[in-house]
Amino acid sequence: MYRTHTCGELNMNFVGQTVTLAGWVQRSRDLGGMTFIDLRDRYGITQLAFNMETNAAICDEARKLGREFVIQVTGKVAERYSKNANLPTGDIEIIVDKITILNAAVTPPFTIEDESDGGDELRMKYRYLDLRRKVVRQNLELRHRLAQEIRKYLDGQSFMEVETPVLIKSTPEGARDFVVPSRMNPGQFYALPQSPQTFKQLLMVSGFDRYFQIVKCFRDEDLRADRQPEFTQIDCEMSFVEQDDVLNIFEGMIKHLFKTVKGIEFDKPFLRMPFEEAMDSYGNDKPDLRFDMKIHELTDSVKGKGFSIFDQAAYIGGICAEGYSEYTRKQLDELTEWVKRPQIGAKGLIYIKYNTDGSFKSSIDKFFSVDELKAIADQFNAKAGDLILILPGDKKKTLGQLSELRLEMGSRLGLRDKNKFVPLWVVDFPLFEYDEESERYYAMHHPFTSPKPEDIQYFEVDPGRMRANAYDCVMNGVELGGGSIRIHDQKLQQLMFKTLGFTPEQAEYQFGFLMNAFTYGAPPHGGIAFGFDRLTSMFAGLDSIRDTIAFPKNNAGRDVMAECPSLISDEQLEELNIKVDIKEK
Ligand code: AMO
Repeated sequence: MYRTHTCGELNMNFVGQTVTLAGWVQRSRDLGGMTFIDLRDRYGITQLAFNMETNAAICDEARKLGREFVIQVTGKVAERYSKNANLPTGDIEIIVDKITILNAAVTPPFTIEDESDGGDELRMKYRYLDLRRKVVRQNLELRHRLAQEIRKYLDGQSFMEVETPVLIKSTPEGARDFVVPSRMNPGQFYALPQSPQTFKQLLMVSGFDRYFQIVKCFRDEDLRADRQPEFTQIDCEMSFVEQDDVLNIFEGMIKHLFKTVKGIEFDKPFLRMPFEEAMDSYGNDKPDLRFDMKIHELTDSVKGKGFSIFDQAAYIGGICAEGYSEYTRKQLDELTEWVKRPQIGAKGLIYIKYNTDGSFKSSIDKFFSVDELKAIADQFNAKAGDLILILPGDKKKTLGQLSELRLEMGSRLGLRDKNKFVPLWVVDFPLFEYDEESERYYAMHHPFTSPKPEDIQYFEVDPGRMRANAYDCVMNGVELGGGSIRIHDQKLQQLMFKTLGFTPEQAEYQFGFLMNAFTYGAPPHGGIAFGFDRLTSMFAGLDSIRDTIAFPKNNAGRDVMAECPSLISDEQLEELNIKVDIKEK
């Protein structure tokens, strides 16, 4: 037997017992007469004590152990002389009388401590060592706990977990596919699923009624803090449902997770906000509602005062940062540079300071009287002491810039508290997005999303105004999940493909199997998928999803530990009938 107990469970109740523990040497302290070692395993840390006077031989052995050696020790549990109240095992130590080295270790490239001295890349390269750190392991323990509770909740609601294939025909979720060559079908490729979308709809045709899967998805897209090329979805689909049924079930799931995993109860129903309101008031379809600071449109009220920048702008909007009138000239200049960065792209920033003494100071003093500035301030319900920030320009771009500015000011004001969680549903998304460059419509969600029945009349006359039965679950400015009610009528689906610019032949080639299935009795159905990594990251209070994933990729999509992607051998290429000819970019 390697151990009688773990390194996290011994306390005063065990004093006097002989125990055997196994684990890693976290740290060793040699105090001359005494040597102490912290022994670590997944469950905790236990102090081992070696006394030079009572057992010099074992003390010598202990002094030779290096960091991260894997050892087994046997000894007696004793009450500690100086206790450590921060450790569950802090009242006791083990007086060791036998050490077995199970495996020696070379010195690790960084310290295996909560605050490591290893940089990001180094820790990624030795991810298996990084995972020994408690702070990283705890994120994966949280992920595991969430997965258990998700299964419990969905099983309780009659959802059935079904696995779907990983080598599939391309699914349209808007990203590029990762593809896999087929040896047995030369020149042909599988795609890795961007999501199991088509399969879950087929399972509804099969009568499975309620499906879920915690499933890997693959998307070849540019990476950001909340995106990985392979990530995990909690993918769900339900039959005989309308939008409200789906929202209610999954609002229940989020509430269940917060209650069981975090002890937080949401007593009110989640707010439901139309897409248009989210865009107009927050500049964003995933508003962070931990703070107010809504965007107000000023277009009509500030034009025609002789200020050409306003007069020429299609849209003018602003936000009011409470209590920021003290911002100095230097700070405003710095903020102006911030909005002018290429990532934000504004040309400049206009401010109105509503000073605490009731006076106004503004970059547009020359064009606006005090009364006019006050009238603008009133539109924001601004008080003395507030700072109003205004951006003019093209509507879509300016709203995007105002959204970034709002989030930045929210952060500066300390309003984005990681321990506060404000969920909402964004609903009534447009069905289509028009792309000026390719002069065509794209499905805003995906091509299987059903339009609002009252908007079907616009299909052939004005698709741009059609709204979808699509919804996103948003929390603290993060899109946690998204889904829709699907089209289950073959004719409507064909109309959808036509509007998206597919010829009947192209639609048949790509989705024939699904269209065909729909002719055999498809129930009305709808569903949703949550980003499991994002959900875990929200629960853990992390800024990136990377640390919720055991073996993530870096920003260039590389596994720096295994050094992949990598070249494959000529034999492998030969078998696959593939010739690599890298084109110069
Ligand atoms: P969607 O494309 O909105 O919908 O994806 C659902 C959720 O998956 C998460 N997500 C990601 N997480 C990490 N890295 C990525 N690259 C990434 N891409 C998406 C997000 C997102 O909300 N089949 C539909 C769902 C449906 O209609 O039922 C779908 O995949 O949290």
